[in-house]
Amino acid sequence: MVKRENRNKKGLVIVIAAIAATGGLLFGFDTGVISGAIPFLQDFFELTDSQVENLTALGLIGAVFGALVAGPITDYLGRRKVILASAFIFATGALWTGFAPTVTQLMISRFYLGLAIGASSFAVPLYISEISPTKIRGTLVSMFQLLITVGILAAYLSDTAIADNNNLECWRPMLWVGVVPALILFIGMFFLPETPRWLMSKGKEEESRKILNKIESPEFVEDSILAMKSDIAIDSSQANWKEIFKPWLRNALIIAVGIMFFQQFVGINTVIYYSPKIFLAAGFQGAEAAIAASVIVGVVNVLFTILSLFMIDRLGRRKLYFIGLSGIAIALVCMGLGFMLPGAGKWFLVISMLVYIAFFAISLGPLGWLIITEVFPTKVRGIGSSIGSLSNWGFNTLVVWTFYKMASAIGSAKDVVVPEGSDLSDICPSCIGSVFWIFAAVAVVGLVWGYFFIPETKGVSLEKIEAHWKAGKKPKDL
Ligand code: BGC
Repeated sequence: MVKRENRNKKGLVIVIAAIAATGGLLFGFDTGVISGAIPFLQDFFELTDSQVENLTALGLIGAVFGALVAGPITDYLGRRKVILASAFIFATGALWTGFAPTVTQLMISRFYLGLAIGASSFAVPLYISEISPTKIRGTLVSMFQLLITVGILAAYLSDTAIADNNNLECWRPMLWVGVVPALILFIGMFFLPETPRWLMSKGKEEESRKILNKIESPEFVEDSILAMKSDIAIDSSQANWKEIFKPWLRNALIIAVGIMFFQQFVGINTVIYYSPKIFLAAGFQGAEAAIAASVIVGVVNVLFTILSLFMIDRLGRRKLYFIGLSGIAIALVCMGLGFMLPGAGKWFLVISMLVYIAFFAISLGPLGWLIITEVFPTKVRGIGSSIGSLSNWGFNTLVVWTFYKMASAIGSAKDVVVPEGSDLSDICPSCIGSVFWIFAAVAVVGLVWGYFFIPETKGVSLEKIEAHWKAGKKPKDL
């Protein structure tokens, strides 16, 4: 009887996590959808290349801003309300961008949508992390990353289905599609509870117990309440920006910013961005190369993220980090070689890239979003994970922005003439190869950094992680 009840509770937590993880679908969808829409809206509004760049950048800047502003609000008003507000912005933003009558409105509405992407990108994993039983916390939070990858693929497939060369306004319905997952998130979150940990940190013990009774096995409920209570008794300080920079939280901060640094500086988004060119080099034709790249890369990304769900609470965070990052480093060296040596074979390049995506999908992808929600104490978990999230968006922008500059700088050092206003296809392949080697070097540095800083949080309650920092202990000794 008790066993069946526990199974039902586990089922309920999985459903709660799955609904909240729809936030990941929106993250993936809204970052991915714009690339298919750009060629059409560029013609429709007669945009210059730099206007298109501004449009993309505004979405990213909105995300940085959204993460920054929503951090303290998640600690103050709660995790659930911030996700609800993001869902509202996602829905209205999808309508607004799709209906935008002028370029200016399109830009402002992309920024507006960016706010929701930034806020939900940490509030959703944070919510899932705080509502999950310790044993399956990693798996449940990784569902967020899974839905990011599903969102990227869904955006691509829906853009392809809607694209119509005879209708310059087909970018509008492409953007409207985002309303559907936004409504699912909004309606779903409306019925979901606040997290017991946040409620407890606000002194709402009875409410917290009520929710714990629904999601935890009875034998753990009082223990959880006691652990949360003792935390709050020790830590009666106010949640604020000053608190997060105190010495005892220094390691947590280094971990959150550091993992996002390595997640972005191994070049994930440039590899995804560059994949159509790699398929082109392998002999696929123009549009065919772009389709093959998006579908094959997207599917490999989804499949290996599914695999990570089964590994993250079994193998643990550290092992996955080292396995993943070693694979990423080797794959990047191979990709560099593929570009440097034309004789290496084009399929060698394609396979190296897919291996790279697979290793990213089992490690840095899910680990980044999971670890930023695990390392901070309840009081400042909102602010803390928002710093992780805004680092992610900041580094993302920086890498994409410098990729082209790095490759063309290497080109000019090698005396390769890169015409003004040209795109990456004009840059010498060996220059691109060199940039991938730079990313490989970053991955190696990440391995050393990870040895000292990646904590093994598998099976450790959030309260124990907090106690570990309070005792002044090192991340690798957790
Ligand atoms: C990263 C994104 C990336 C995506 C790819 C996420 O974890 O934060 O920048 O595009 O994974 O799957």
